[in-house]
Amino acid sequence: MLKMERVIFTTLCSAFFFTNCVSGDYPKAQNVSWLSINFKTLLMWDPKPTNYSYTVEYSVIGQNRKKNQHCIRTMETECDLSNSLVDLKAIYSADVLSEPLRGVNSDLIEFPHTTSERFTPYEDTLIGRPEFKIEVSKDKRKITLYVEDPLTALFNEQNQQRTIRDVFADELQYKVTFGKATSTGKKTKISASSEIELDKRDVDPGVSYCFNVQAYIPSRSTDKQLGELSQRQCSPGDDKSVFEGKDTNNAKVVGSSPTGITYKHCTVSGFGLKHLLSGIFLFIRYFTR
Ligand SMILES: *[C@@H]1O[C@H](CO)[C@@H](O)[C@H](O)[C@H]1NC(C)=O
Ligand SMILES: *[C@@H]1O[C@H](CO)[C@@H](O)[C@H](O)[C@H]1NC(C)=O
Repeated sequence: MLKMERVIFTTLCSAFFFTNCVSGDYPKAQNVSWLSINFKTLLMWDPKPTNYSYTVEYSVIGQNRKKNQHCIRTMETECDLSNSLVDLKAIYSADVLSEPLRGVNSDLIEFPHTTSERFTPYEDTLIGRPEFKIEVSKDKRKITLYVEDPLTALFNEQNQQRTIRDVFADELQYKVTFGKATSTGKKTKISASSEIELDKRDVDPGVSYCFNVQAYIPSRSTDKQLGELSQRQCSPGDDKSVFEGKDTNNAKVVGSSPTGITYKHCTVSGFGLKHLLSGIFLFIRYFTR
């Protein structure tokens, strides 16, 4: 607000003894940022308000601004816009306005605001770590990974939760990183299907392999193509000693394949710890909403 306007405004306030009238000294929101995983999309900012509140306005670039009823004159520093950004491929931007407390009037026409970066759900939401199961064929020549497409925060017309496969369809692929449990060598394989088959071109029969899986969306910009890494899991091998090695100190049998061969759930190795922590953080955020 211009100095002159403020002077006039303050003068008017005092002149008419508006008891609820407030000056425009609200701090601007800072660090406005998007946190989005599997289309659960939060707008977050600082600092915690004291004697004022925040209102979020969002819009597709160039269109009318809208408000989410949960983010009007709120004392929170985040706003869940998952169900507001309905056009997943549109480019959105949001403003965080610093406004009077709920129930307090103000004659200000414009409140201080901070504009977010642009955000396109389809391009920008992080894809969380997938779960998968390992099955070894009876003749031990083939290993199949059954990947569970992660659920999104979006619902279809039948009110069923949509998976990332429902959203990305053919554009969703998975990248598998794998290697023998006894070696540090790694190979990768890209699969268009959520059912990933590794045959004799990829794996030696009867050998234990360890796998990491992550979503891969080649249509996105390079830095957004890969999702979070899954936990590492290993297939059983013929060589019993493999399972007594350090790789599987905390391994526990988590299930049994239809062929009767058990598979194991390995501990997360060092390089995965960061991802695990960020995963847990996002997970908690996701489910405490
Ligand atoms: C904004 O973020 C920076 C870096 O994380 C932090 O140091 C600063 O305190 C934040 N601002 C507010 C108002 O909390
Ligand atoms: C809110 O409180 C701060 C610090 O106590 C003060 O500087 C500011 O003027 C107050 N703003 C309003 C709108 O009352």
